[in-house]
Amino acid sequence: MLDRYKRQISYLRISVTDRCNLRCTYCMPAEGVVPMSHNDILSYDEILDLVKVAVESGINKVRITGGEPLVRKGIVSLVEMIAGVKGITDLAMTTNAILLDEFAKDLKTAGLQRVNISLDTLDPDNYAKITRGGNIQQVFNGIKAAEDAGLWPIKINCVITQSSDEPDALMVRDFAERNGYEIRFIHLMDLENGFFEPVEGGDGGNCAICNRIRLTSNGFLMPCLFSTKGFSIREMGINEALDEAIQNKPESGGKNPEGNFYNIGG
Ligand code: 5AD
Ligand code: SF4
Repeated sequence: MLDRYKRQISYLRISVTDRCNLRCTYCMPAEGVVPMSHNDILSYDEILDLVKVAVESGINKVRITGGEPLVRKGIVSLVEMIAGVKGITDLAMTTNAILLDEFAKDLKTAGLQRVNISLDTLDPDNYAKITRGGNIQQVFNGIKAAEDAGLWPIKINCVITQSSDEPDALMVRDFAERNGYEIRFIHLMDLENGFFEPVEGGDGGNCAICNRIRLTSNGFLMPCLFSTKGFSIREMGINEALDEAIQNKPESGGKNPEGNFYNIGG
């Protein structure tokens, strides 16, 4: 479906959980996040119903995100359910890859096509610092497992603070190039103050060509990461919420002081 600015909305990002097994400094506080209650989190059947209706409205690409999607129980079965929806031609996941070693094969078998992996440095100490305790070796193992399983292409998401020439970014670029992975540099964003820039190497952050809507784990369809607007599929019904989300896409992003990346899915 076209939005008010004639953008064809074809890409749905689904946040399946607000929980994460890391605590990246730019995404979550060290402690004190109260996780959503289980009753508020959409069931896999509710997500599937939404996907089926979304396909009728022109969605053909789905990305599963979080939080960290691999911490949600039964995630492989959700992948299988979505992969089975006729009309989904691109099914991807964004993950921190901590658990990917364990899941890669099953995800591929279930119908996941590819993964984007968050990795901001190659230095183990710095990785532990940025993620507040993450073990980078698990990420390397996860990436390898994804490659072996045929989850391809592998894209690396690298958050940068200054520029893609900063030392950590150069190391990650080198790692990606050596292994044939794609790399995208994401400038550190600030939802509260409405700060974002186009993603280097990707399509994100470019309002004129933005084709996405987002589903939060508690069932709100959000027209834009940088807008507080959200439409509850439970309260409004799927059709109405989907329509409103598409028709309320702003021409360009503003601010979202109430939003969190771990809710809206980055
Ligand atoms: N700025 C930019 N990217 C962010 N992410 C999380 N928080 C931010 C932020 N403040 C990104 C992660 C990951 C994706 C899930 O969201 O780096 O790649
Ligand atoms: Fe978890 Fe991703 Fe947020 Fe890091 S950026 S805390 S891995 S959801």
